[in-house]
Amino acid sequence: MRASLSLLAFTCALSGRLCVAQTPRPAEDPRPSAPATEQEVPALKKVFEDLFLIGGALNRNVVTGRDAAGAAIAVKHFSTATAENDLKWQLIHPQLDRYDWEPADGYVAFCEKNRMVAIGHCLVWHSQVPRWVFRDDSGNPLTRDALLARMKDHIVAVVGRYRGRIQGWDVVNEALDENGALRGTPWVRIIGEGSADKQYDFIEHAFRWAHEADPDAELFYNDYNLEVSRAKCDGAVAIVKRLQSKGIRIDGVGIQLHGGLGYPSIEGLEHAITTLAATGVEVMITELDIRTQARGYRGADIGKVSRKSTSDPGAASAETQKKLADKYAEIFSVLIEHRKEISRVTFWGIHDGASWIGGSPLLFDRSYKPKEAFFSVVKASRERQY
Ligand code: XIL
Repeated sequence: MRASLSLLAFTCALSGRLCVAQTPRPAEDPRPSAPATEQEVPALKKVFEDLFLIGGALNRNVVTGRDAAGAAIAVKHFSTATAENDLKWQLIHPQLDRYDWEPADGYVAFCEKNRMVAIGHCLVWHSQVPRWVFRDDSGNPLTRDALLARMKDHIVAVVGRYRGRIQGWDVVNEALDENGALRGTPWVRIIGEGSADKQYDFIEHAFRWAHEADPDAELFYNDYNLEVSRAKCDGAVAIVKRLQSKGIRIDGVGIQLHGGLGYPSIEGLEHAITTLAATGVEVMITELDIRTQARGYRGADIGKVSRKSTSDPGAASAETQKKLADKYAEIFSVLIEHRKEISRVTFWGIHDGASWIGGSPLLFDRSYKPKEAFFSVVKASRERQY
């Protein structure tokens, strides 16, 4: 039986040193195992510097330094970072006449101080948006024009504030259903007014206004399951082509890539990367994590995912961590192969203890130690010839 590296690896994580036993020998090998040697934990941003930006989602504890060990990992390993929540409408613009800039200002300052490319997530989404956005003073649904005006105000204020400091924006997040059609969100219902012609209007306007607010910012469409559902991937392609045909700036599509131990398949991931890249835009992996829970909901709808419902006491077992490491190695071998199409790879969080999906889905464990999955990702980069 092959011993798990995670059982043999132990770290002095905060000092950034790794003490790791040498590669385990097969059971039948009679030689005594070699003494543990010390080796540096390589910085991911160095490992991938010639391939793509690499980063993670930062929560407020990291940005403020309350999670000092998490911040140390981010500073050491990331060349890019996304705010996990602090730029979302609900947090940055909780009331009609009130913006709460402080947390997002802190995130942008953290990125600048630590030379990370800052990514804005996200401007127009159906989740984490307050209900007042879609209603008038009397609680009635807004008209199309009033909602468009409200959306414009928000985009101009938020993108404008960080003009020249946030390099790229997830302008529209998760607008698609699994079948590739637009979701029936208030954005579509109100701005689309039930007319097929107007369904995509909110997307077009959002991209136009984001561009006006910061002409140098890169603008992205972002969604999950693009690597799982071909119909959804086609839906994203349709959005890109529609914007392009109207001369509206779009620079890239973000594949969130909330995966699991058994998905996505190599074929599905390659299909999404190549199909999206064929439209001429960059492709990014924007929210990478791998669920260790074997059962349950597979998507990334935040209404269906909760850390409680996905908790899994066995997640940290050596067997699960081995599977996790293998899945990460497989995914990274695809990403490395497609390095010319991929501009950025961002993990959705820093360490398991703060992951939004519970279990053990990231490269660092609850004690901030790099896991077997960390080393398998590094190894994948060294095994590729490029
Ligand atoms: C998640 C955050 O990680 C959680 O902290 C929050 O409670 C809910 O949202 N797709 C996205 C992200 O685009 O914004 C979501 O982030 C995860 C799914």
